[in-house]
Amino acid sequence: MVSGCQVAPVKPIDPVIKSLAATKPLVIAHRGAPGYLPEHTLESATLAFAQGADFIEQDLVVTKDSKIVVLHDIHLETVTNVEQMFPSRKRGDGRYYALDFTLAELKTLRVHERQDGKAKQVFPNRYQGNGHFTIATFEEHIELIQQLNRQFNKTIGFYPEIKSPAWHRQQGVDISKLVVAELRKHNLDDPNKAIYVQCFDFEETQRLRNELKLKAKLVQLLAENDWQESPSDYDLLKTPAGLKAIAKVAQGVGPWIPQLVDLKTLQPTGLVKQAHLAGLQVHPYTFRQDALPKGLNTQQTLQLLFTKIKVNGLFTDFTDTVVEHLAE
Ligand code: G3P
Ligand code: CA
Repeated sequence: MVSGCQVAPVKPIDPVIKSLAATKPLVIAHRGAPGYLPEHTLESATLAFAQGADFIEQDLVVTKDSKIVVLHDIHLETVTNVEQMFPSRKRGDGRYYALDFTLAELKTLRVHERQDGKAKQVFPNRYQGNGHFTIATFEEHIELIQQLNRQFNKTIGFYPEIKSPAWHRQQGVDISKLVVAELRKHNLDDPNKAIYVQCFDFEETQRLRNELKLKAKLVQLLAENDWQESPSDYDLLKTPAGLKAIAKVAQGVGPWIPQLVDLKTLQPTGLVKQAHLAGLQVHPYTFRQDALPKGLNTQQTLQLLFTKIKVNGLFTDFTDTVVEHLAE
């Protein structure tokens, strides 16, 4: 917890807005600490823990043998050496899918810094070494964080994202059922535990709550419709009626930053206020100090988000920077 840090109150137009705006913002370690070490590895999660994150994010996909692994994409080639290790295992579209490999096979791969389609590092100043990083299971991440919590007497939370549930279903896999079972196995399906489950697909968010009876807190992620991230209509979800529908099943929304603030005028779009009115927390993605909004430096960006826009949490590739900012 940050002590001695008073968040300036917003004009209290509503008690719900007042209480949501007054809570200490959460620092959510986006894919671990990818600003420094390859995303979603156990090493990256460990560093995020040490840097003082409140929550550590795990993006989840499923393997051929129905294990849950922590990977941002359903594809493997942008963060691993799968093309060298299994050249014949690509699909007709030229992509290598985690779902086509057993966990034992995935464990033979090395994880490297994220690359673009031309094998160029997406963030050139990040990790440049040749360490032996590997793909980890969700269960390994759970154990790691639980053990670190026990030893350091902390309650750093989990922030798992169910990736592409509609695509997994088309492939004959019910990823949500597998994730819910894993959470229950580790006693994490509990609204009072430090865990938020997130998903871009609103139908799946509703299904998690209503059909699969998930008890843990839920966050509905918001994208742009043209990203084709899921079948959800994000333009509709951002309206007061859409936010009200989200609030029936979830505790928060996860928009990307430009949905909250016009980055030309630096004026709020009103989405935070509308979400707060619906009783929803707002946890935007993603703060990257090596990819800041044009014309803003790190401190200006963080001030804009925390002090002016009053978000309730922030996904960050650089946990240390955000923790330091909030401590000041
Ligand atoms: O889940 C929040 C944020 O991580 C969404 O973006 O693409 O990094 O999963 P993505
Ligand atoms: Ca994510």
